Amino acid sequence: MPLLVAPALPAGSLAAQEQPHLPVRPGLALRPWRDDDAPAVRAAFDCPRIQRWHVRRMDGDDEARAWTAQWVGRWHDETSASWAIVDADDRPLGQVGLRGVLLVEASAQLSYWLVPAARGQGLATEALLALTRWSFTRAGLHRLALEHSTANAASCRLATRAGFAEEGVARGSVRHSDGWHDMHLHARLRTDGPI
Ligand SMILES: CC(C)(COP(=O)(O)OP(=O)(O)OC[C@H]1O[C@@H](n2cnc3c(N)ncnc32)[C@H](O)[C@@H]1OP(=O)(O)O)[C@@H](O)C(=O)NCCC(=O)NCCS
Repeated sequence: MPLLVAPALPAGSLAAQEQPHLPVRPGLALRPWRDDDAPAVRAAFDCPRIQRWHVRRMDGDDEARAWTAQWVGRWHDETSASWAIVDADDRPLGQVGLRGVLLVEASAQLSYWLVPAARGQGLATEALLALTRWSFTRAGLHRLALEHSTANAASCRLATRAGFAEEGVARGSVRHSDGWHDMHLHARLRTDGPI
């Protein structure tokens, strides 16, 4: 059956270019993951809060290497993308990325975490805003959404501070280690105003 609406973005919109490096400000940038980031990623996943809210742990160096290596293929599949948030010495402080990319709808979901030592300085907000800016102005996306457990107050505050309006609560929609969690939805549209 023919579609009656043209895709918002054609296939190849992301894969036609290399995943970009995105400067945030002096001393903070987003860049694609590299193989030699695997030890930093493994250490990050030792954090109980990252395990709790991302519902995964990392059991060894092989898993960490597989994690860093997966993103090249995902970029070319145009399904998801992840950037390392790096400091002035190019060391990973966290990750921010796009999940569930739908070029047909020009939409994606956001994901983020910071290593414990990097929290509480507004870095996640800056990284989220830099990725949002690139997604709307360079990648041509129209809608970015994110969802967090209603028990994750830091994620809610970050989403709100980055201009992602609250859209409601999906009750009992995601299972965590302690059972079903209500998920709070936030989103920002390209038309919501300057970043
Ligand atoms: C979510 C996360 C990236 C935020 O990192 P951050 O930028 O360092 O955030 P901060 O610690 O500066 O906190 C951001 C806001 O949340 C508030 N906050 C932080 N921890 C909080 C808590 N436990 N309860 C309530 N509010 C909290 C801060 O006061 C701040 O609010 P403010 O802007 O009014 O000062 C970080 O906490 C993290 O990596 N958490 C684990 C992984 C995770 O939750 N990922 C998201 C899954 S949806």
